[in-house]
Amino acid sequence: MKTATKASLKQQIEKLRERIRHHEHLYYVLDAPEISDAEFDRLMERLKQLEAQGPDLITPDSPTQRVGGKPREGLVQVRHSVQMLSLDNTYSEEELRDFDRRVRQGAGKKKVEYVAELKLDGMSMAVHYENRMLAKAVTRGDGRMGEDVTENARTIRALPLSLAEAPLTAARLPADLEVRGEVIMTQKAFVRLNEEREQAGLSRFANPRNAAAGSIRMLEPGIVAKRHLNYVAYMLLDKGHVPLAEQIQVLEALTTLGFKASPHQFCSDIDEALEFCREWEKKRDSLPYEIDGIVIKVNSIALQDELGTTAKAPRWAVAYKYAARQAVTRVLDIRVHVGRTGTLTPVAILEPVAIGGVTVSRSTLHNEDEIRRLGLKIGDAVVVERGGDVIPKVVRVETSERAKHAHKLREFAMPKQCPVCGGKVVREEGEVAWRCINVNCPARLKESIRHFASRKAMDINGLGEALVDQLVDSGLIRDVADIYRLNEETLANLERMGRKSAQNRIAEIEKSREKPLDRLIFALGIRFIGERTATLLADHFGSLDQLEKASLEELEAVSEVGPKVATSIHSFFREPRNQQLLEDLRKYIQFEQKKRAVKGTALAGKSFVLTGTLEKYTREEAKDKIEQAGGHVTSSVSKKTDYVVAGADPGSKLDKAQALGIKVIGEKELEELLSKS
Ligand code: IVH
Repeated sequence: MKTATKASLKQQIEKLRERIRHHEHLYYVLDAPEISDAEFDRLMERLKQLEAQGPDLITPDSPTQRVGGKPREGLVQVRHSVQMLSLDNTYSEEELRDFDRRVRQGAGKKKVEYVAELKLDGMSMAVHYENRMLAKAVTRGDGRMGEDVTENARTIRALPLSLAEAPLTAARLPADLEVRGEVIMTQKAFVRLNEEREQAGLSRFANPRNAAAGSIRMLEPGIVAKRHLNYVAYMLLDKGHVPLAEQIQVLEALTTLGFKASPHQFCSDIDEALEFCREWEKKRDSLPYEIDGIVIKVNSIALQDELGTTAKAPRWAVAYKYAARQAVTRVLDIRVHVGRTGTLTPVAILEPVAIGGVTVSRSTLHNEDEIRRLGLKIGDAVVVERGGDVIPKVVRVETSERAKHAHKLREFAMPKQCPVCGGKVVREEGEVAWRCINVNCPARLKESIRHFASRKAMDINGLGEALVDQLVDSGLIRDVADIYRLNEETLANLERMGRKSAQNRIAEIEKSREKPLDRLIFALGIRFIGERTATLLADHFGSLDQLEKASLEELEAVSEVGPKVATSIHSFFREPRNQQLLEDLRKYIQFEQKKRAVKGTALAGKSFVLTGTLEKYTREEAKDKIEQAGGHVTSSVSKKTDYVVAGADPGSKLDKAQALGIKVIGEKELEELLSKS
């Protein structure tokens, strides 16, 4: 390759890497993604292609190098630079005030400043950067020795693979640093993982903490990458010492270095820290991940050093633990629910009980094995918890209560026939679930119609549980295509349905015919196909016809699709009943992916930032237009921005553009640029 082309390739690669890092940061650190997963995957694909053209340009901190490691035999033990301590716990205001008293006494001060931070419920991990590059990641282990999980940690997209030079210099930090924090799994990733495991016949993780801890210690980085772990940092060390004067500065430095720092607040005394604890106890449900309390730390690092540690925990920090959201109630009955794939799920009907402000009256028991594991009988008193799953779960049986109710207890047995259609049920080898195999089972039909109409699928508002029951029970709907054969007349004749609401529902059904392909694929309810896989498939194949025709090999070529998923899709489309259904659906629904067409290349490679209000377009419209002309829009101004488009009342982005000498244009000039495309 000629030097000039090589130089331009290098430049392209670096630009793309920056773009990808920016989106990783937006998604995993700031929880504010600006592009879809599919778009992100496209950028990664492009980078892989470019790097393949110049393999010597690949650097260890390239986003493509997150999953490079090979499966290992076992984990290697590593000694920590300084012990990873635990924390003492407090459970009440009084205990927290005792802590403050001890600290003030030790410091010889009337008032001490603190930093209050969320206590994340995960697994702690130290990450070492050498010469700005991520060099090693070690789990807490017993505090002195941990396990080397570097290859797995590299897959965590909230962890920078290298530290940028500018913020290090600005904070006067060295190029060799150790960051400590918590590996966590968000509720969303946890629920998804458990769903996948359940579908694959594997056992569920009890909570996000176990899932995170189990995942980071796995031997195959390729699988860890799919677990979507996250990392929240709370400590910075330089050769075992905190290199800054205050904990609040540590958290600020972590943020500027690109980490997600534990959400926190500076507190000028213990009263403010208590206020923070109370506030978050109320707000904890709104977080995307689990916390089990608040950590209160002395702000001054000098004072921390002075107070020192005990063998187990620092004297300068304490955990204020929240009570687990549990309650005791009684199992009134166990009913068996039949899902859309025919899976029989036992559900505990509970005496209603309030847990963390929510009334709970039923809880899934997942499967027969789970009931056996709990040793649960109908009539038992049980402890119910609202954990990371949000869905309440039965944690254990209160056996001490048994004596009083022994005569009322009943054993539960899984039915030998489908409780809805009376058909045969089977438990396939290696699976935990029993399934009804009658494809015409009304329970399966109702569930599949509900799924088809659900918000994340075809989003047919008003086609809820009661109406689906009514339509199936009266024989008006025998498959999902029948939805599109309904008319106002038929609906208006149903019990409890007026003309107006019949009209609204038909309008909703009409609207759903325009839904994009990924929703349709998800709506079909193919086994193992969740929303994300549906999007990947839609992007890859572009139409349902192409997907239908795809061979097993072609299906496996789609990222994240393995043999099990490929087989499921393949056999779905080869089942005569499904083929008939699709033939039928084709009359009503568009089977093509509607892509945002790129109409021109006038703005190819140009980066725009929008600020202020435009007259003719909303931000979304302006963004669309720019993208159609081949350009892209980012949220913040940097040296790499080509144009800042300023409307009325522009914000600080305009100042920044001027400071960096970036070209600022108005709406008219934007239109001129667009008209060239
Ligand atoms: S500070 C010496 N800060 O809680 C200081 N720990 O129960 C010890 N944790 O092992 C750690 N969030 O894994 C600290 N903001 C936070 C934390 C936090 C979660 C975990 C950490 C620690 C455990 C102690």
